[in-house]
Amino acid sequence: MKFAEPALLEADLHAPLPALRAATRGHHDRLDRLMDLRRLGERTRYASVLQVFDRFLPAWESAILAALPAVRHPWLQARTRRHFVARDLQVLGIAVSPRPVHFAPMATEAAAWGSLYVMEGSALGGQVITRGLAAHGLGPETGAAYFHGWGESTGAMWREFREQLERELETPDALSRACASACTTFDCLAALLEDALHERAAAA
Ligand code: HEM
Repeated sequence: MKFAEPALLEADLHAPLPALRAATRGHHDRLDRLMDLRRLGERTRYASVLQVFDRFLPAWESAILAALPAVRHPWLQARTRRHFVARDLQVLGIAVSPRPVHFAPMATEAAAWGSLYVMEGSALGGQVITRGLAAHGLGPETGAAYFHGWGESTGAMWREFREQLERELETPDALSRACASACTTFDCLAALLEDALHERAAAA
């Protein structure tokens, strides 16, 4: 028998965002500790973090596109932030890592929406990270394009995403699958970051 995480049990399985937040809180905290905003300005560390996102995003985007109907693809492709990482690597002269990432296929559309929650939500944290990186002389044109992302449009894009999420995750079953997938997505990124930074953060 598979038990839901305690945080998920406490959450209202009819309210997508609070449920996703509750299910993933510990996972977010773990990533936050791993990336350690205070040390992100250290160049080798920052380069490793960018390389992880550069490896992760193509595999992750392919899995999302494969799980969602073609009618959704233009909307998803308009939100991609892959080209921002590529620009940062180029501007800072960081090598593209030759190690591809394999992201497991999403079993359901609900799982894809849960995973999308993680990466769309990360654009919000990106705005905070951007302010931290600015203190180290890194701006959108000088190596911090990925975390800056869509900049001033981020809030509006997040609101639009949330509305979509609420329409897509209407049943408790869909929401439960989305929460599990969101946790898996956080864990995949955490494992890649741990490996790249050679550090361990306490499991969520
Ligand atoms: C140094 C690393 C990070 C910091 C300091 C950070 C910080 C934050 C902050 C302050 C917010 C709330 C923003 C707001 O409400 O306006 C947020 C939201 C979020 N972040 Fe992060 N973040 C970090 C890394 C990440 C990463 C790597 C991911 C996933 C790839 C992520 C996923 C999310 C998600 C999903 C939300 C939305 C939560 C919600 O409102 O439901 N964050 N982050």
